[in-house]
Amino acid sequence: MGNDQEKEAAARASLQFIKDGQIVGLGTGSTAAHFIRLLGEKVRGGLRVRGIPTSEDSRRLAESLSIPLTSLDEYQQIDVTVDGADEVDPQLRLIKGGGGALLREKIIASASRKLVIVADESKRVPHLGKFPLPIEVIRFAQALVASKIETLGGKPQLRIKSGAPFVTDEGNHILDCNFGKIGDPSHLARVLSDMPGVVEHGLFIGMATTVLIARGTEIIELNP
Ligand code: 5RP
Repeated sequence: MGNDQEKEAAARASLQFIKDGQIVGLGTGSTAAHFIRLLGEKVRGGLRVRGIPTSEDSRRLAESLSIPLTSLDEYQQIDVTVDGADEVDPQLRLIKGGGGALLREKIIASASRKLVIVADESKRVPHLGKFPLPIEVIRFAQALVASKIETLGGKPQLRIKSGAPFVTDEGNHILDCNFGKIGDPSHLARVLSDMPGVVEHGLFIGMATTVLIARGTEIIELNP
């Protein structure tokens, strides 16, 4: 089974968490896109939900599937969010933001009663840090933040897309920061959150309520 089939299998398994009448957070990335497509099928079959997308890409996809959408302006509590991840460690700590949507993803996750993470087996790691940690920064401060990250032992790289700096849905830039193995993710998360110029970082700690990993045809459910 290839990665993409595993992604779809994990996304399909997450449908069991979605109930009629719920407000559903719609994640970003290729695995979350499988979820949104499958949710669209359920909606066509009569399921009544309202989605809150974590990115403009996911909004466009959901709209193309006629999934009714709402916003945080209308609902400040989300029943369940389904999203992907770049890395998941044994304590269900995550690195997210490979798709550049970490800021809205973390806001939506923080407003969700349940955060179901869907991923293929390749995302499961013993320690976080092989995947460079995405950090969303205010453009004005990006050089300053980059130099501070270097003093923390990280190697920051400005994310480039089509020859120009990648711009997030909120108009910021992203530094992809290679820290190698992150020994103490909670400490690093606190240090980054306290750094002026950092808008948000991709460490999601204590947020996932369920992780569904597809390994071949098997679905592994991990809970905190
Ligand atoms: C986007 C994310 C994605 O969930 C993460 O990058 C995983 O992506 P994919 O499902 O395409 O492997 O955090 O900001």
